[in-house]
Amino acid sequence: MNVGIDQISFYVPQMYLDMIDLAQARNVDPNKYLIGIGQEKMAINPQSQDIITLGANAAEKILTAQDKEQIDLVIVGTESSIDESKASAVILHRLLGIQPYARAIEVKEACYAGTAALQMAVNHVRLHPESKALVIATDIARYGLNSGGEPTQGAGAVAMLITKEPRILVIEEKTLALTKDVYDFWRPTNQKYPLVDGPLSNSTYINAFSDVFTAYNQKYQQSLTDYKALLFHIPYTKMGRKALNHLLENVDEAIAKEFIDNYELSIRYSRQIGNLYTGSLYLGLISYLDHVATLKPEDTIGLFSYGSGMVGEFFQAHVVEGYQKHLHTTQNQETLNKRHRLTFAEYETCLNEHLDPSIDQVFTDETRFSIEKVENHIRYYKK
Ligand code: COA
Repeated sequence: MNVGIDQISFYVPQMYLDMIDLAQARNVDPNKYLIGIGQEKMAINPQSQDIITLGANAAEKILTAQDKEQIDLVIVGTESSIDESKASAVILHRLLGIQPYARAIEVKEACYAGTAALQMAVNHVRLHPESKALVIATDIARYGLNSGGEPTQGAGAVAMLITKEPRILVIEEKTLALTKDVYDFWRPTNQKYPLVDGPLSNSTYINAFSDVFTAYNQKYQQSLTDYKALLFHIPYTKMGRKALNHLLENVDEAIAKEFIDNYELSIRYSRQIGNLYTGSLYLGLISYLDHVATLKPEDTIGLFSYGSGMVGEFFQAHVVEGYQKHLHTTQNQETLNKRHRLTFAEYETCLNEHLDPSIDQVFTDETRFSIEKVENHIRYYKK
């Protein structure tokens, strides 16, 4: 029995900062951001959008009434949790109208959590083939004004419906994870922003990919040329490219070119959005599927997931015949094109605002799902 992604979609806030505006304000050569970091635009969320509404706006696009009756597992992967105790999945379960007899949990391990959620959901459906599982990877990636990580911020969510005999992508059972206790990026519970050792986070990412990719191929007796494309966690688009360049150092030029061309297809959306943390690998997957010329079911796609701290995982997948009919390519492009470009002053205002759940307040937001008000430490959502 095949199990995998039957439906997949993303949602990003409808505001962005142009990286040239950031470069000018920070007195930096724009090419550092456009080429050195590889980002053109950075999604910024208003206070009325949090990880719940981003996740709900992503998931609502792909769920039918029948799906909502069949889903019995909702897992949210996030590192921007709004509560130390209550899982965001419980609120999403209600907002999305999923039948009551379901498990709803939130999982954490930096940007890897989306993959932890996906693998748990896939295993759940393998064991219970009549079930469907909803996976939501949702985050707000903020490092703060004038911080080292400022050009690598972003926000958004990816939602995936996991079923047997999926219509888009089969996730194979072959997988390998790698865990190492490293302080490259972490956010103690009293910190508004993460603490980051940028160079260490880059080198840990590259070493983790190199290690787990080699070990995976040894374990399953595969090699580079068995893959059609390699997709990466994309904190900023240059990061995956660095890991790929490292792998391709001594590889035949024509073979290397094909991997690089495919990587370029996978970063088109991320260049316009920035970091989604847990959703980044899956935004890359959507971008790749939306832009690549037809894939065949026998084409193997390798996926590298990475979460600082750190856990990495490499696994593989292949498309299902007719998968293109189930993508939302035009809608995805429209979501990006209709966004509002912030002035630098508006961006600074947004970054200085922090939703304080201890202060009662009311919001106005036309988006399908948004925060309506905060009262007595509870966020009330508009449906
Ligand atoms: N034109 C073209 N490229 C330029 C440039 C210019 N004018 N100026 C600088 N660059 C290049 C640098 O050579 C460098 O390229 P390289 O990485 O290939 O060597 C790149 O731009 C970044 O420059 P650097 O000086 O390293 O940037 P930085 O000190 O501002 O740090 C990050 C960049 C990503 C480490 C930082 O933004 C960060 O900490 N981000 C958060 C953590 C993160 O995302 N980690 C990723 C792993 S999860």
